Amino acid sequence: MRLFFALWPPREAADALHAWALEVRRATGGRALGAESIHLTLAFLGEIEERRVAELSGLSAGGERHSLPIEQARHWGRNRIVWVGPRKTPTALRSLVLSLDLELKDRSFRTESRAFSAHVTLIRNARQGTILPPLPALDWQVEEFVLVRSRLAAQAPSYEVVGRYPLK
Ligand code: 2AM
Repeated sequence: MRLFFALWPPREAADALHAWALEVRRATGGRALGAESIHLTLAFLGEIEERRVAELSGLSAGGERHSLPIEQARHWGRNRIVWVGPRKTPTALRSLVLSLDLELKDRSFRTESRAFSAHVTLIRNARQGTILPPLPALDWQVEEFVLVRSRLAAQAPSYEVVGRYPLK
């Protein structure tokens, strides 16, 4: 199974981000993620044998509830995505990612080696060269993180939440 840990936005925030992405896509082209697919990845596990998935249900990665300000929008030319995220990663989010990473390593799960960068991808295969419009005001309260199964498909991957981890 292809798995990753993520934060999923509240529905209203996801809808507002999706609407913003549709507007931007008129200039950049590419593929805007559906509102139901918008997320922020905490740790990418990749392919995990099915028998090992149960080990993930016992994670204690204690973290604290916090809000996630979405303050900046950027275009990454390197991988042609348009993403949004906080200007500075909230301390609670950074701690959550660190403790999750440590716990996964303790259990011998291999995680992504690239440094964590809090970003929410909204458009893939985007052309550069357009000025991104101001972001909508939105409220993203982080009260849990989730384990997600990704199924690759020709058009776009589909995501299914397979585990929930409430924060304190
Ligand atoms: P991205 O949006 O920057 O591509 C599901 O694939 C999620 O895991 C995406 O949010 C993706 O980030 C993230 N991810 C992190 N590392 C990845 C990797 N090595 N391969 C695929 N996706 C990865």
